[in-house]
Amino acid sequence: MSERLTPDELRTLFLFESLTDDQLDWIAARGYGKTFDGPSEVFVEGAPATCLYILLDGEVQQLRRSGDDDVLLTTTAQRGVYAGAVRAFVTVPNTQQPDTQQPDRQLPDTQQYVNTLRTTGPARFFVMDADDFSAFMRDQFPMATHLLDGLYLGLRNAEQQTRQRDKLVALGTLSAGLAHELNNPAGAAVRATSTLRERVAGMRHKLGLLAEGKVPSAQLRRLVQLQEDVVERAAKAPRLTALEAADREDELSDWLDDHGVSGSWELAPRLVAGGLDAGWAEQFATDVEPELLEGAIRWIAYSVETEALMGEIEDAVERISTLVAAVKQYSHLDQASEQEVDVHDGLESTLVLLGHKLRGVEIVRDYDRSLPRIPAHGGELNQVWTNLVDNAADALGGHGTLTIRTALDHDTLLVEVRDDGPGIPPEVQNRVFEAFFTTKGVGAGTGLGLDISQRIVVHGHRGDLRMHSTPGDTCFEVRLPLRR
Ligand SMILES: Nc1ncnc2c1ncn2[C@@H]1O[C@H](COP(=O)(O)OP(=O)(O)OP(=O)(O)O)[C@@H](O)[C@H]1O
Ligand SMILES: [Mg+2]
Repeated sequence: MSERLTPDELRTLFLFESLTDDQLDWIAARGYGKTFDGPSEVFVEGAPATCLYILLDGEVQQLRRSGDDDVLLTTTAQRGVYAGAVRAFVTVPNTQQPDTQQPDRQLPDTQQYVNTLRTTGPARFFVMDADDFSAFMRDQFPMATHLLDGLYLGLRNAEQQTRQRDKLVALGTLSAGLAHELNNPAGAAVRATSTLRERVAGMRHKLGLLAEGKVPSAQLRRLVQLQEDVVERAAKAPRLTALEAADREDELSDWLDDHGVSGSWELAPRLVAGGLDAGWAEQFATDVEPELLEGAIRWIAYSVETEALMGEIEDAVERISTLVAAVKQYSHLDQASEQEVDVHDGLESTLVLLGHKLRGVEIVRDYDRSLPRIPAHGGELNQVWTNLVDNAADALGGHGTLTIRTALDHDTLLVEVRDDGPGIPPEVQNRVFEAFFTTKGVGAGTGLGLDISQRIVVHGHRGDLRMHSTPGDTCFEVRLPLRR
C-alpha cells in the first residue's frame, strides 16, 4: 500500500521542519507513505540499504545480530524517528573498499542496513528511495554532506587503527615470552656444543694413546664394539632419583679404586649419568687387558658424555623448531582473508607460544579431532585463544589445570578454555568484557583482552563468547558457526 503525503503533512516531521516549500514539494513528489497492518520486518540487517524510513504512526524496534541472536537495541513510538539508508549520501573513495576485514561483505557499510527494523503492530512510514535521498542531500546541502563524508571517513580510519592496535596487543603478549623462550634452548645448544667440542678433543687424544701401537687391533675392535653397546645402553638408561644415583656412584667409585683406576670421584658420576654401574664395570673388565683398563674406561666415559651432549643439542634444536613452526603457523594464519581453519592448529600453536606462562600448569586437551574445518580468520581466532589462555595462565599463577575442550554444539563449533583458578568475583563478572576493565596491576594488564576477543568472535565471526565462573572453575566458551 503506498500513498502520497502533502508537504504540510511532511513539515510536521522534525527532520523536515526547517525545509523550504520547494524542498518539501520535491520530497513529497518522490517519497510515499507505506503502511504495515501488523508486526512485520521492515528491513533486515546486511541487506542493500535501498530506502530511508521515517515513522509516522506505530511502534518500531531496532535489532542487531549477535551470534545466533537478534539483540534488541531500542523500542520507540516517537513520530519522526528515522532509520534505514541514513548514510546513503556518504561517498566512500574506492580505495577504502572492499573492507579487507570482512571480505564477505559486498557492499560498503554506507550502503547496507546496519540493523534490522521491525514493527510491533500496525505502523505507517514515510519512505524515500536511497538514491533520491542522496541526490537531495548532495544538491541542497553540499557543504553539510562534505563535512559528514569527512567525519565518516575519519571514524572509519580510527576504527581501522584500533583493529591494528588490537593485533599489536595480542602480539605483545606473545613476543614478551617468546624471546625468552627461544633464548633458553639456543643457549643450551651453544653450551652443549662447546662442551662437546672439549670432549671430542679428549677422545681424539685418548684414541691416540690407545692406538700408540701397544693395543692389539683385536682389542681395539672389541673396544669400539663395547662403546657401541654403552651408547645404546645410555639411550635406554632409566632416570634415577638423586639418591639412587648417589648410591650407584659410591659403588662404582669403590670398584674403580679397587681396580686401580685413578680419579674415581670424577669418573663415577659421568659413567652413572650414562646408565653405567659397578655391574657393568665388572663385565667390562673381563673384556679388556688390565693395563688398558683405565684408558678404556675413560674412553667409554667420553663416549657416553658426547652421546648425552648430542641428545641435549637435538632436544634444544627441536624445541627451537617447534617454536618457529608455531610462530609460522600463528602468523601464516594472520592473513586478512577467510580460510578453512582447523581450530586445533591455532590452539596448539598458542599453547606452544604461551608455554613459558604455563610452566607448572597441567594442560588437559579434550579435543574432538573429528570436528570439521570452519570458515574463519585464523589469525584473529589465534588472538582469541591467546587472550583466553593468557588470562587462564594469569589466574593459575603456575599451578593448577588448564582444560581445553573442543566439541560440536548443535550447528556450532564449541571451544572451551577452562581453569581451576580462583575465579572471577560475582561483582565484576558482568564487567570483564568491557574495554580497559582489568583487575591486574599497572603494566600487567590493559583490560583489552576480552573486549578484543568478544569483538572478534561476535562481530568478526558471528559467533558467541560466554563466561561462567565460580571459585575453582572458570570457563570461557567460544561458539563459532560451522558455515558462513
Ligand atoms: N580465567 C580467569 N580467571 C579469573 N579472572 C579472569 C579470568 N579471565 C579474565 N579474568 C578477569 O577479567 C579481567 C579482564 O580480562 P581481560 O583479558 O579483558 O584484561 P586483562 O587480562 O586484565 O588485561 P590484558 O588481557 O589486556 O592484558 C581480568 O583483569 C581478570 O580480572
Ligand atoms: Mg587478558
